[in-house]
Amino acid sequence: MPTFKDRSVALKQLPDFDLVLFGGTGDLAMRKLLPALFRRFLAGQFPSHARIMGVARSKIDREQYVAQVEQSCRKYIPAGLDAARWTEFSRTLDYTPVDASNAGDFATLASKLSKQSAEVRVFFLSMAPALFQMTCANLAASNLVTAGTRVVLEKPLGQDRVSAEQINKSVGAIFSEPQIYRIDHYLGKEAVQNLLALRFGNSLFEPLWGRGRISHVQITVAEELGVEGRGAFYDQTGAMRDMVQNHMLQLLCIMAMEPPVSNHPDAVRDEKLKVLRALRPLEGNEVANNVVRGQYRAGAAKGAPVVGYLEEKGIPADSTTETFVAIKAQIDTWRWAGVPFYLRTGKRLQEQMADIVVNFEDVPHSLFERSSSAGPNRLVISLQPHDSITLTILAKNPGETMRLRPVDLRLDMDASVKTPQLDAYERLLTDVIKGNLTLFMRRDELDAAWRWVDPIREAWAQSDERPKGYTAGTWGPAASSSLIVRDGYAWHGEL
Ligand code: BG6
Repeated sequence: MPTFKDRSVALKQLPDFDLVLFGGTGDLAMRKLLPALFRRFLAGQFPSHARIMGVARSKIDREQYVAQVEQSCRKYIPAGLDAARWTEFSRTLDYTPVDASNAGDFATLASKLSKQSAEVRVFFLSMAPALFQMTCANLAASNLVTAGTRVVLEKPLGQDRVSAEQINKSVGAIFSEPQIYRIDHYLGKEAVQNLLALRFGNSLFEPLWGRGRISHVQITVAEELGVEGRGAFYDQTGAMRDMVQNHMLQLLCIMAMEPPVSNHPDAVRDEKLKVLRALRPLEGNEVANNVVRGQYRAGAAKGAPVVGYLEEKGIPADSTTETFVAIKAQIDTWRWAGVPFYLRTGKRLQEQMADIVVNFEDVPHSLFERSSSAGPNRLVISLQPHDSITLTILAKNPGETMRLRPVDLRLDMDASVKTPQLDAYERLLTDVIKGNLTLFMRRDELDAAWRWVDPIREAWAQSDERPKGYTAGTWGPAASSSLIVRDGYAWHGEL
């Protein structure tokens, strides 16, 4: 197995920063953002001046906030907390109660920040998008927005194209586009960046990357989990808006984009945008033929019985919200003409798995006998649960006869890289502080993604058909298998 000899992953120290976390007591902050910051602190990346200011409506004081953060870091950092290091880190934490509609609260925040302000100031808005406009306006009115200020927006960025544009307009009225960091945490995953490295750091794959060489591509993001207490939010959202509009389309872009001229953020984002714009629209009848939506029924997860979606807390008994989507997408470009991209995502599926499977064309003329499992070459880029890249080739079965069987050339990133990998939020938060926009979505990308997704949802809204049921713990509705089987293929892992 290949291993990486060079462990000198240079950890550049971050510039001095003030990070203001709106929604600072919320689930994302406690579960992901603050533990991620603590890990970067432990890695020695914090500068001499670093301040993390939690902001939320709760009228708690600094001590109470620090205690909450400590509790969640204990929970989400499996290695446990070193008391001395925790105390050092906790000195960077502060808290200010702010009601987004109260200008006076912003004045208090401004006076706290002005006492010792850093060259980089980040406002992370981990809050309901309905509050973005008011929050940004109040930040500007309190003179908190300067040239060195950045704003980070967490999804959901709109319910559709129109509402996304409203968000973009209201935030864009205060911050210029290079100051706006729209997070899609999938782009922060190490495996996704590795896909960029695989494609554009090697000459091997590029001549094979497209029509004539690749028969089809599959992108699956499957979850074993259900809606996990987020019923009310999820029922307003559904898998299409929760996963496809953002994470799945971003994976598709990275997979399908042309080589950018450089790794400058706009060079990369220009190429991703072209892919989104080249997606063949699915409208009217095309939707029924190319898109399957499903909803889970009672079944099992990890061997234990689980309720169906309609029995989950907060879900109306007649909800038609989809918990599963499978799509056959086409990219109308020279490179990808005639190469289908099958996308599939859902909750309460058989196992947790996220991978991109590139299926190559078969040999034009087969000389040898093959075992029943021997098919065309395949490249599997696994994002989770394990980060790995596997190339399946055919090799001779030992023995007298010339009979071929599949063998895997596998690069297991978890096992071969000794340096602990950065969690997606660690990577993205440090990129914001460093001012690197490459892994963040630009306004026109967001717009193009909604432009493709909206007509699909509109067709569903006009149809009387309910989402197709599937038993929790399976691979989704039977129609999802049919979508791909009718083209002569099968979902990877489902055989
Ligand atoms: C989030 C969705 O964006 O991504 C969740 O809102 C989903 O519903 C999650 O569970 C999946 O992310 P990951 O990193 O766990 O695959």
